[in-house]
Amino acid sequence: MFGSLFTPRHRTAALFPDGMDRHTHILWGVDDGASTPQESLAIIRTLKSLGFSGAYCTPHIKASCPGNTPDKLRRRFNELLSAAAGEAFKLELAAEYMLDDLFEEQLRRGAMLAHDGTHLLVELPQSCLPGTWKDMISAVRDQGYTPVLAHPERYGRILEQAELLELAEREGVRFQGNVGSLGGFYGKAAASTARELHANGLYLWWGTDTHNAAMARHMPLKP
Ligand SMILES: [Fe+2]
Repeated sequence: MFGSLFTPRHRTAALFPDGMDRHTHILWGVDDGASTPQESLAIIRTLKSLGFSGAYCTPHIKASCPGNTPDKLRRRFNELLSAAAGEAFKLELAAEYMLDDLFEEQLRRGAMLAHDGTHLLVELPQSCLPGTWKDMISAVRDQGYTPVLAHPERYGRILEQAELLELAEREGVRFQGNVGSLGGFYGKAAASTARELHANGLYLWWGTDTHNAAMARHMPLKP
């Protein structure tokens, strides 16, 4: 499953100049990522071995994870900080918001878990676009956040590349690429799109989108 990820390998510092992984599911027990504190620590140690100095925890917030309120995630994040206190690894809390029925209500309530309080990481479903997705992106901007679309290279079934470019050029959307896409983790089409977007300088950030230690170990990265 992971074989194709071994090439090409990128220097972590080349894709992550500040050493921060901006998309991870390190926080345990809140989504389909790490399930135990031990697994969270195993991911952190693997990311360190790849040359990362820190990571943003970006748990899913979406209708299918109804318990993931900002308060609950902050409590778990504080537990992670305690568990990882000896790791010399910088941890920040943000989130990965699905643009679904729950999203507009979340945005109205406020208390969004944004990267550095300014950039909001959002994702789309893989199979069909919600009818109001562009309105939701406008609403993100209206609230003062810069919308950052997670792994745009993975939406080949629902978005043409020209639509992605329009998002970047006209809608003020920035992109976060999954580094695994460059190694073929999400298939050939995603790899091709990722390489093209990368070649055109369209990624603001990269992330590993790591869900478990095995996935982290097989990122196409070297320190
Ligand atoms: Fe993710």
